[in-house]
Amino acid sequence: MADRQRRTLPTVADTEALGRELAAELGAGDLVVLDGPLGAGKTALTRGIAAGLGVQGRVSSPTFIIARQHRAGAGHGAVPLVHVDAYRLGGDLDELDALDLDTDLHHAVVVVEWGRGVVEHLTDRHLRVLLAREPDSDVRTAEWEWVD
Ligand SMILES: Nc1ncnc2c1ncn2[C@@H]1O[C@H](COP(=O)(O)OP(=O)(O)OP(=O)(O)O)[C@@H](O)[C@H]1O
Ligand SMILES: [Mg+2]
Repeated sequence: MADRQRRTLPTVADTEALGRELAAELGAGDLVVLDGPLGAGKTALTRGIAAGLGVQGRVSSPTFIIARQHRAGAGHGAVPLVHVDAYRLGGDLDELDALDLDTDLHHAVVVVEWGRGVVEHLTDRHLRVLLAREPDSDVRTAEWEWVD
């Protein structure tokens, strides 16, 4: 999937379904950078990715936790998911270092909300997903591409 793709997401179920689709392309060592304003659906998309990967534990919006580890499911080739919300990091690179995502990337898929401009250096390439929303509407749009 080299080209940029775009989709309209009328409901939260559509956003989760896109996450499940994207998960089919993801494996250990892959970094997903989620961008878009508050309430755009970054966590909803992550929930779909988690479902697609079959990982354990409920995906939620971490209030105090910056990174949450989801253990791999039982299936063959199952990989864990590390879900990071970089909002509170505010670009603090020491705190980012402390999360030790480098190590996670050896064995897990790492998804970072608010990760744009903060985590791209961790891997040679990443899947960038930009979510957008209209005011007073459930409709979201997603644009995504692999970026070197
Ligand atoms: N089409 C849609 N896609 C995703 N979420 C939707 C959609 N329509 C409505 N919603 C609702 O919008 C909210 C999206 O919240 P979510 O936590 O996923 O956003 P977020 O981008 O992670 O926000 P934050 O920046 O606060 O982390 C949820 O309440 C969800 O039910
Ligand atoms: Mg969120």
